[in-house]
Amino acid sequence: VSVTTISTWSAPVHIGHGIIAELRTLVPALDRAHRIAVITDENVGPQYADRVAAALAPMRSTLISIPPGELHKSRATWAQITDALLASGFGRDSVIVALGGGVVTDLAGFVAATLLRGVPLLNIPTTVLAMVDAAIGGKTGVDTEHGKNLVGAFHSPLAVIADLSVLPSLPLMEQINGLAEAIKHGVIADAAYFELLAGTQLATADWHAIIEGSVRIKTRVVADDERELGRRKVLNFGHTIGHAVEHLLDYQVPHGLCVAMGMMAETRMAIALELCDPALEDALAAVLDRFGLPTALPDALDVDAVIAATAADKKSRQGIVEYALPARCGAMAGAERGYGIPVPTAIVAAALGQA
Ligand SMILES: NC(=O)c1ccc[n+]([C@@H]2O[C@H](COP(=O)([O-])OP(=O)(O)OC[C@H]3O[C@@H](n4cnc5c(N)ncnc54)[C@H](O)[C@@H]3O)[C@@H](O)[C@H]2O)c1
Ligand SMILES: [Zn+2]
Repeated sequence: VSVTTISTWSAPVHIGHGIIAELRTLVPALDRAHRIAVITDENVGPQYADRVAAALAPMRSTLISIPPGELHKSRATWAQITDALLASGFGRDSVIVALGGGVVTDLAGFVAATLLRGVPLLNIPTTVLAMVDAAIGGKTGVDTEHGKNLVGAFHSPLAVIADLSVLPSLPLMEQINGLAEAIKHGVIADAAYFELLAGTQLATADWHAIIEGSVRIKTRVVADDERELGRRKVLNFGHTIGHAVEHLLDYQVPHGLCVAMGMMAETRMAIALELCDPALEDALAAVLDRFGLPTALPDALDVDAVIAATAADKKSRQGIVEYALPARCGAMAGAERGYGIPVPTAIVAAALGQA
């Protein structure tokens, strides 16, 4: 089994085909665990939990499975899981293994961050989105009625195991969803990586190269700024508009699709502000199109409602909405002001209207 290991500012990220079988070699700290809980969801567990249990043997692990979906990334689920772990005597010498998409890695990560004030976490992401984004960077959390990810903690995993052999079962829409974040990584930091994606066809995608490229970019950005005081904000490209759209569509449209719409609108804002190379608009539209990602807001969405919804974004500073805007493919604007750029409402409206 061949493995690519990316050492990061904290956890190593291992990428390869079938590497779940190598868990104990890749993560020696597992051997010191007294108890191991594998947290997964009901889509992933039946297909892959056995592989994890087999790789941990002769150490025994407890399987906890939640219903799939964002709705279960909640304090209620967090409480159920932590209660169950405490009731069965999980102590400080436990390890939490997250096996699933971003919902599971965020939720299980928050369990690990909070159980007994923190126990080690191992991430085994099973979606493209979790491999390129959610499992990397140490953010964990749950949603509340007030919005997504509003209660959480920074808690870095011991390691991340991106086993490519789980990807074929992933629905096509979920593959596309993850690619939107990969495209974002190209725009914000690496034009060559953007070109790799621009030349990729979904059916023959080189997932190893795609995931490796994205992980290298995200970990580099996060290493510079773990607590999101400046540089890490570039990862929000496409997300101020994207989150507003996602919220207005009642979370019925996948995150990556909303981010795609957001990246297009925010690129137009950057161009209107004369911060960005105008060529990015067409280049971005072409790569989004290639994967069937949307480049415009749905007609039914009202521009004023989108603008109003951006004000609720938790990244707003003193009530002023700030955007992470590109300068060209591979570089972001606004370094001198911490990558948060306020945009006049008229320019936001124009960028959203130009569908
Ligand atoms: N912590 C972070 O930095 C960060 C970054 C980005 C996103 N996120 C979070 O990630 C979540 C979205 O993650 P996601 O897109 O992975 O969604 P998800 O976890 O809901 O997974 C998508 C769907 O695919 C299924 N699935 C997962 N792996 C599969 C596989 N290998 N085969 C078949 N089906 C599989 C799941 O059961 C689910 O139905 C959001 O809650 C978001 O807030 C967190
Ligand atoms: Zn995102």
